[in-house]
Amino acid sequence: MKKIIAVFGTRPEAVKMCPLILELKKRECFEVKVCLTGQHRELLDSVTELFGIKADYDLSVMKKDQTLIDMTARIIDGAEWVFAEEKPDLVLVHGDTSSAFAASLAAFYMKIPVGHVEAGLRTYDISSPYPEEFNRRAISMTSSIDFAPTEAARENLIKEGKAPDRIFVTGNTVVDALNFTAKEVQTDEKLLLLTAHRRESIGEGMRKIFSAVRSIARKYPDFKIVYPVHPNPAVRKIAEEILGGEENIELCEPLDLKEFHSLLARSYLVMTDSGGVQEEASALGKPCLVLRDKTERREGGSLLLVGTNEKEILSAFERLVDDKEFYDSIKNAPNPFGDGKASERIADILERI
Ligand code: UD1
Ligand code: UDP
Repeated sequence: MKKIIAVFGTRPEAVKMCPLILELKKRECFEVKVCLTGQHRELLDSVTELFGIKADYDLSVMKKDQTLIDMTARIIDGAEWVFAEEKPDLVLVHGDTSSAFAASLAAFYMKIPVGHVEAGLRTYDISSPYPEEFNRRAISMTSSIDFAPTEAARENLIKEGKAPDRIFVTGNTVVDALNFTAKEVQTDEKLLLLTAHRRESIGEGMRKIFSAVRSIARKYPDFKIVYPVHPNPAVRKIAEEILGGEENIELCEPLDLKEFHSLLARSYLVMTDSGGVQEEASALGKPCLVLRDKTERREGGSLLLVGTNEKEILSAFERLVDDKEFYDSIKNAPNPFGDGKASERIADILERI
């Protein structure tokens, strides 16, 4: 029996790791342990509860206004203790967060093999997304088996010299998660769903994004804009300052995953700087304005990279609303990010190797 420890700590990792953990737990050849870093708290707990995942360990590292250094150090420290206690055959991490980076580094130092889920995403700009582009590249240096969501991600890893026979294209487990939350019938209501939280945008970039959103709200009063605001106090401050008090903008607390997916399914379009939301929008055929200067999800789908420029955001929105043919062409673009069977594929591969 192989012992696998899955380590994660933020909302997006939980969304994408929980379906895989459920799949691994079904198989008798694995002993699966879950170690939460607690990098996030309420955002994380609401997802693990939804999937019915109980943690074996919880490092509970989150602090208000945590710094990258502080949380990384505490996760490495906690992970060392957990790995020494459990002596796993494999540590599974996901994506590019501080939790994933710190856990993979601890495993590497302890000579424990690392499996990387959602491996190979790159912008090749170390400052965008920050610090995730560093984290994901560093994790690739520690991992001995990589699960790439797309062929393009696999090619990135091969270009960087990783052994092709240890890289598997599996699709993204985010589509497995979408299949888990019962979806409602899709509609295209006059609803704009917004999310924004990236560290590199906090400040000028985020101000420009929110100013564009405010202009849209005023110019299109028949549109309702819903923004579940990330709990990061720095994000909340700018959101309330620029978007607060607008009649057709609802600033709300983060929604639980089911609610968020159902709102997404009802939206006309999405604006986001999130990674996971880009993939979900593509999977549900929702046009998505990507509020970043660079994206690692270049495969397309229903994504339009608009950056943080106020004019560009506004004109992309106007085109989607005014030009039905354009809207439909984006909406009907094929989804490159997965087919809902990624967890099964990853578990099959782990069983085989
Ligand atoms: C982190 C990830 C980022 C991911 C994002 C998802 C890193 C470096 N960044 O972002 O890749 O896109 O999570 O949301 O790992 N907070 C709460 N409750 C929560 C979660 C956060 O109060 O449940 C507040 C805390 O004050 C915390 C702040 O939000 O200090 C920021 O959280 P943090 O995990 O540091 O967020 P990011 O680095 O922005
Ligand atoms: N999400 C959610 N509630 C919200 C906003 C987002 O459940 O109010 C989910 C969303 O469906 C996606 C994930 O959070 O699966 C994305 O997380 P986030 O945007 O925080 O991080 P990223 O993907 O950018 O790393």
